[in-house]
Amino acid sequence: MKAIILSGGKGTRLRPLTYTGAKQLVPVANKPILWYGIEAIVAAGITDIGIIISPETGDEVRTKTGDGDRFGANITYILQEKPAGLAHAVKVARPFLGDSPFVMYLGDNLIQSELGEFLNSFKEQHMDAMILLRPVPNPTSFGVAQVDDQGRVLHLVEKPKVPPSNLALVGIYFFANTIHAAIDRIQPSARGELEITDAIQDLINHQTHVEARQIEGWWLDTGKKDDLLEANQIILDTRLKSDIAGEVDEQSKTFGRVHIGTGSRLINCTVRGPVTIGNNCYLENCFIGPYSSIADQVTLIDIDLEHSVVLQGAKMTGIHQRIVDSVIGQRAQLRAAPQRPKALRFMIGDDSQIELT
Ligand code: G1P
Repeated sequence: MKAIILSGGKGTRLRPLTYTGAKQLVPVANKPILWYGIEAIVAAGITDIGIIISPETGDEVRTKTGDGDRFGANITYILQEKPAGLAHAVKVARPFLGDSPFVMYLGDNLIQSELGEFLNSFKEQHMDAMILLRPVPNPTSFGVAQVDDQGRVLHLVEKPKVPPSNLALVGIYFFANTIHAAIDRIQPSARGELEITDAIQDLINHQTHVEARQIEGWWLDTGKKDDLLEANQIILDTRLKSDIAGEVDEQSKTFGRVHIGTGSRLINCTVRGPVTIGNNCYLENCFIGPYSSIADQVTLIDIDLEHSVVLQGAKMTGIHQRIVDSVIGQRAQLRAAPQRPKALRFMIGDDSQIELT
């Protein structure tokens, strides 16, 4: 059994963060989203992993993630020259996959369930494909499945205007090598992509063994800001362990689960967990509230912040209102005058969103 993880794409819905980096490397609780996928695959016993990368962000993904040693895996990088669809990515990965069955995992998806149980039934029942489904309130944004009373998949359609059900396709799929012939038979969709949804529909049309399972628990597709904040909240809630390696002075207090990395200093701060603070940060006179993730080398002085994600190297000083539900990009700087400001001075990147509420 092998796995491929798709880590290309332009990440348009996460701009401006994705102008300077891959969306799969945006951190959730200070760890790239992509790495959770790798860990889930390794936990299911699969160590031969191909990561599909794009020319734009491939080098960054490769440099940051490495050859797999840190995960106990063997990672091969596979370049997809153009974003021509999920089924096209499988085509590009064909030399790596050979005739092996495989898991295909979209690099910005996270699920609560472990993969092992699904993998076992896929193998034991010799399926051609197994898909995972979950009811969603907005099925028009996803691939959608129609299933019968026994859970058999009748029909799949990608981003339908009139959805046949509310069951979205989760971005984690299990395939036998019969998927390759199906991909060879399909044509590009209206958006010009070879859709994996169409390839699975082709398997169904050829009466092969395709099954669906509904997943329990959360599913996060971290393509947008609010999804990213929600993913951050859930991961901090469920997986963060207390660990204070940095220096916390006597005036500072921490409550609940708080992680503070090495080389970080907190002066006169209150931190109410779950909160993770990376390495080599400097925080003075701050309140850091629940569900905040602060990456490495961040400086915060006179800041009151909660339910937010601050990326590497950002610097914020003297903001006298609480910052909430915010994502602050790498090296971004926010500064305010000590009194109520007479004017605001901005240098804001394309597609940034500022709300003064
Ligand atoms: C892709 C698939 C879609 C699936 C979704 C899950 O969509 O095409 O069927 O429901 O992932 O994340 P995309 O996110 O590429 O628009």
